[in-house]
Amino acid sequence: MQRIARFEKVSLPQFQSDFSDPRSDACAAYAAIVMPRRATRGSAGYDFFLPAPLTLAPGEGALVATGVRALIDPGWALVLAPRSGLGFKYRLQLDNTVGIVDSDYAFSDNEGHILARVFNDGRAGKTLSLPAGAAFMQGLLLPFGITEDDETMAVRNGGFGSTDASCADGSDDALRALPDAAQALFEGERHPLVNLSNAAALLYDGMRDVNWCGFYLMDGGELVLGPFCGKPACRRIALTRGVCGAAASQGRTLVVADVHAFPGHIACDAASRSELVVPLFHEGRVIGVLDVDSPRPARFGGLEQDALERVARALEDACDWTRAEYRLR
Ligand code: SME
Repeated sequence: MQRIARFEKVSLPQFQSDFSDPRSDACAAYAAIVMPRRATRGSAGYDFFLPAPLTLAPGEGALVATGVRALIDPGWALVLAPRSGLGFKYRLQLDNTVGIVDSDYAFSDNEGHILARVFNDGRAGKTLSLPAGAAFMQGLLLPFGITEDDETMAVRNGGFGSTDASCADGSDDALRALPDAAQALFEGERHPLVNLSNAAALLYDGMRDVNWCGFYLMDGGELVLGPFCGKPACRRIALTRGVCGAAASQGRTLVVADVHAFPGHIACDAASRSELVVPLFHEGRVIGVLDVDSPRPARFGGLEQDALERVARALEDACDWTRAEYRLR
């Protein structure tokens, strides 16, 4: 089972601004918030609990402020549905039939507060009456795919800007130009130390909201710190640890919207909130990773991934890896 999400309480001010039940006290409801959980080991759905009592006569609806936000890894979504028991007994419905919570919703201006509009659609005249703490809805964490030609670059406006502020000069074009700029910088130089150093400087200088950018290189079965820009960083990373270890051992790019939600993330700089790691290959084997950190949550999207993967490919081609002074494998 993959652990790809975390539930958190939203802030009290956020909860107060969304809590609309005149019969209950928002502070008491906030104190009563419980994180969603599965009832049994085999349950697929996370039960969501009411922070305040809910009474719905037939034909009546209400907006439930759950007090919960979901931090979800890219590639996954939280799908909300009524609890089957309440559906059977009262035809309790979600107004949007099923709710889809995207992974970037957590960084919206409302902290990604999960709100549920529920409706007693019962035909037998039964009033639904649930106490605070009762489970009323379930959420399933499901993976999703994208089409081969999908080039969606927009990110949800989470109050943290959007991908069009990717580059230091604020344009997507500048980001797209980075691989060519890197190629030009490597021209006529084959030494990995030189090209890795210049690549780190180029990206650090050229990308907005980046607090660390550099390389870890394979050495004796682990990753060792290579050229970088930013604060001093951890020297060695086992392949079983961190975003870097995961990207190197899986041989694929990892885009982490919230590093705190990534199991085993290594915090070299406490300011880092999101991270993108691209493996570098030589003769079919991973020789290291390019690691970029941002203090902004969900800073990196498809555009950044594409640009940095192109820089990685340019580096692989530009360098004579046998000239590295350390063992690369
Ligand atoms: N955060 C990385 C460790 C390297 S620092 O970000 C420079 C990780 O979890 O692998």
